[in-house]
Amino acid sequence: MVKGVQIYEGKAKKVFATDDPERLVVSYKDDATAFNGLKKGTIEGKGVINNRMSNALMRMLEKQGIPTHFEKELSERETLVKRVEIVPLEVIVRNISAGSFAQRYGVAEGIVFDAPTIEFSYKNDALGDPLINEYHALALKLASKEELETIKEYAFRINEALKKIWLSCGVTLVDFKLEFGRIFDGSIVLADEISPDTCRLWDSETKEKLDKDRFRRDLGGVEEAYREIMGRLEKNL
Ligand code: TMP
Repeated sequence: MVKGVQIYEGKAKKVFATDDPERLVVSYKDDATAFNGLKKGTIEGKGVINNRMSNALMRMLEKQGIPTHFEKELSERETLVKRVEIVPLEVIVRNISAGSFAQRYGVAEGIVFDAPTIEFSYKNDALGDPLINEYHALALKLASKEELETIKEYAFRINEALKKIWLSCGVTLVDFKLEFGRIFDGSIVLADEISPDTCRLWDSETKEKLDKDRFRRDLGGVEEAYREIMGRLEKNL
């Protein structure tokens, strides 16, 4: 595999072509943004941690029958992935109230739900990733009905698998964001990343935040939290 030209740069990752049209290289950066890019910063070592964590979790999900874009970790920051056409939806699963859910509905953070919830945002930075429902997603032709069913089924199965692994690390999975894509044959796979950038992870006992909320909310100890959460996962994988 030969790494080719950069074809995309996002807020946290760069994407490169390869000599195989069905495969890309993603390279994780230390750059951090929040509030649709309004807040900018650097989290030293984040790219290395997110690359390693996302790959470890996707390998685990593959073993449990969830297809992902993961192919091979190439280096500390770089991973070979399947080329996908991203479904422009942010798929958010929540187990406990926090963040925009708590704000939107005027409830406290930390309320444990009887059953997990799912919601979709239209992935569109210019519009600020607005919340949409499945009918809107169909109207906008973002995904087919069958694809939405598959995405929901995978998202809830991923939640169960992630809750379990994090529990064994003394960590509560509060909520997380997933993105899915279509590979060459049109089938849906999990894409993007699963990391402290995209999940809320609280110490099960102290409720200490071990994720990007430390950066979003200026809580301090950001790098330490990323190192702590990665260390716990590696001990329990
Ligand atoms: P929210 O409560 O701000 O809607 O966030 C829900 C989850 O989604 C949380 O775990 C953080 C993650 N997330 C992203 O990965 N990217 C984003 O742009 C946003 C807003 C949230």
